[in-house]
Amino acid sequence: MAHPRVDAILREARDAVAAAKSSADLEQVRVRFLGRQGVLTQLLRSLGGLAPEERPAVGAAANEAKRELEGLLEARLAGALEAERRAERARGRLDLTLPGRRPPRGALHPLTRVHDEIIAIFAGLGFSVVEGPEIETDYYNFEALNIPRDHPARDMQDTLYLSESTLLRTHTSPVQIRAMQAQRPPVRIIVPGKVYRRDVADMSHSPMFHQVEGLAVDRNITMGDLKGTLELFAREMFGRGSRIRFRPSFFPFTEPSAEVDVLCFVCRGDGCRLCKQGGWLEILGSGMVHPNVLKNVGYDPEEVTGWAFGMGIERIAMLKYGIDDLRLFFENDVRFLRQFA
Ligand code: DAH
Repeated sequence: MAHPRVDAILREARDAVAAAKSSADLEQVRVRFLGRQGVLTQLLRSLGGLAPEERPAVGAAANEAKRELEGLLEARLAGALEAERRAERARGRLDLTLPGRRPPRGALHPLTRVHDEIIAIFAGLGFSVVEGPEIETDYYNFEALNIPRDHPARDMQDTLYLSESTLLRTHTSPVQIRAMQAQRPPVRIIVPGKVYRRDVADMSHSPMFHQVEGLAVDRNITMGDLKGTLELFAREMFGRGSRIRFRPSFFPFTEPSAEVDVLCFVCRGDGCRLCKQGGWLEILGSGMVHPNVLKNVGYDPEEVTGWAFGMGIERIAMLKYGIDDLRLFFENDVRFLRQFA
């Protein structure tokens, strides 16, 4: 039921559909011919103005043209949309020629790094790692370590008591007792762990910090062994040129006792800000295990001797990395932590 006027419009519409390159183009064609102001729509609406004899033929032809055009548009639209979706996916696909995106990477906490390093150094010397409870009894934390009740040495460490006889350990030294009770000499252990003190946090104090205890007990162990071991430790920890010195000191569980300094690795002894012009940095306390301590665990001080030391992990890390505020370790500000990645 063709009609010349409708035929012309239909031909134009078919060409437009054929020329469309996208779903957006097809939509434009639909609006142009079938929209409210569209050519075919207008034609159908104007049928009333035609001569009565013309109306049926034009009307039928226009309706047929409308159906054909709707079918054409629908068929092309499905293909166009599919092609567009495929192109979209291709754009989002992995481009192997692009430089990779770096995933955010975590890193070990500086205290963990120093802890691991200390352990590795002593493990290399044949020491084994032992741990003990953070909740201790008065006996292990003090008594067995030759610190009797009411002894002024108890004031050296402000203690957080949980009850009359239990407390948060103030040092890792009680693990010396536990380890010696559990085995016969020779003993070569290293004891890392958390310790607690009744202190308010400031640049150099924290109610919780970390220590590493060292203990060697055997026949003929001397202070020379202690010195040699700590010299090696200092060289591994602070560099080949490191030197240490012993300063007489006092601890109830060692006799003699010494505090150990390492030659300031910044100024090499000349005096600088890090060593507060002293040229030396204190790194630990140590000494020969007191005969009373050996007796307390059932060892015979006439038969075996030993040395022990205790060092603060935070202190070593502060010296090694030039950190001047203890609180930085516990605030977990990534801007601080990132520097050790
Ligand atoms: N326990 C001591 C403290 O926390 C450190 C210490 C000193 C440990 C001498 C020892 C040692 O094993 O022999 O201050």
